[in-house]
Amino acid sequence: MPSATPDSSSPRIVLGVAGGIAAYKSVELLRRLCDAGYHVAPVLTPDATRFVGALTFSALASEPARTSLYGDPTTPIPHTYLGQNANLIVVAPATAHLIARYAMGLSDDLLTATLLASRAPVLLCPAMHSEMWEQPSVQENLATLRRRGVLILEPESGRLAGGDVGPGRLAEPEVICSMVDKIVRGYRGPLSGRCVLITAGGTREPIDPVRVITNRSSGRQGYALAEVAHRLGAHVTLISTVDLELALDVVRGVDVVPVATAAELHEATMARAGASDAVIMAAAVADFTLQPAGQKMKKDDGLPQLTFVPTADIVHDLVAKRHAGQVIVGFAAESNNVAENALAKLRRKGVDLLVVNDVSAPGAGFEHPTNEVVLLDRNETATTISLRSKEAISLEILTRVASLLSQGAP
Ligand code: CTP
Repeated sequence: MPSATPDSSSPRIVLGVAGGIAAYKSVELLRRLCDAGYHVAPVLTPDATRFVGALTFSALASEPARTSLYGDPTTPIPHTYLGQNANLIVVAPATAHLIARYAMGLSDDLLTATLLASRAPVLLCPAMHSEMWEQPSVQENLATLRRRGVLILEPESGRLAGGDVGPGRLAEPEVICSMVDKIVRGYRGPLSGRCVLITAGGTREPIDPVRVITNRSSGRQGYALAEVAHRLGAHVTLISTVDLELALDVVRGVDVVPVATAAELHEATMARAGASDAVIMAAAVADFTLQPAGQKMKKDDGLPQLTFVPTADIVHDLVAKRHAGQVIVGFAAESNNVAENALAKLRRKGVDLLVVNDVSAPGAGFEHPTNEVVLLDRNETATTISLRSKEAISLEILTRVASLLSQGAP
């Protein structure tokens, strides 16, 4: 018996389940989707049935679970029936194998055939071990699918099968369910109607036509903020120093403005700040720049004499020109006396929220997919956000931004 009896107007969801240990969580997801009033048709890959029984899904879903392209008593072509009638296809968990087959256009089971036989939006919720998740081949397949408009709900960082800890854990069923609501029912997130300006990456100051002075910021935290802010309903502008190649992979709907130097970042940020409800300065901005030589400096000319001049402090200028109700978030990259330096920076910069990074902590700061931060607010209250993916850190930051905006801060 289905747990819910949706009527014929209920949105129809195909819940795809691939063969990974996280398949047990898709039972809970199925339950939540049914309780939320969706008509849910489960499709399990043959490998998924090694982890969970089709009977469990049939007992909870709106129609019996399917596991094969063949032998369906109701229709000889289940993939087209499912694909053409779906308002959304959710695959949770999406394994590396499923992702690769979908990216290649292979249809060798009912789930991949349904994905190919549908024009409905598709939400993939990957789950796998960290080493697999970080494989360039897996990431490239995901980038390909993203470019084709497939929505990806990134896995979380946490406990994995076998007791390992790291990124790759399936997003929680409630998070997947609210994402489904957003896609199918036009759910309005806490940042709906808000314009959020985000800066990302390390600036590059030219020395001559060949050389630059830069820093170790990869731009990942800024990109994660852009993606999550977009997911929460904001109109997002991302000013980024990171390669256009990488910028192309940013979630659709985010405006990307490429810049390189601190001066370009300053100009681009100040030009857009007035129209923004919140500005998040995740970029690592050079504090000093120099007049670049017009031609390549030659080794035989001896040691170069470099004369530095200070750059403008963008956060300072933002705070000076802020409009009523605008929220400004700064970042602090510290390597020593973290708490003391961060507090001094909060007072000096006048931001509403300072995201403090101890760049010497393991798994945190520059170049890592994970981060651990302290959020320091105007009242100088510190909240530690323990080690997790940069997307999960972004959710914490943006939830605070949404709450400050709703209070009309500052
Ligand atoms: N920032 C900025 N303009 C600069 C330098 C930094 O807007 N010219 C911003 C950064 O984007 C970040 C915050 O200020 O949000 C703090 O950056 P950080 O490098 O930690 O601090 P600094 O102000 O550079 O101070 P210090 O180098 O002494 O730590």
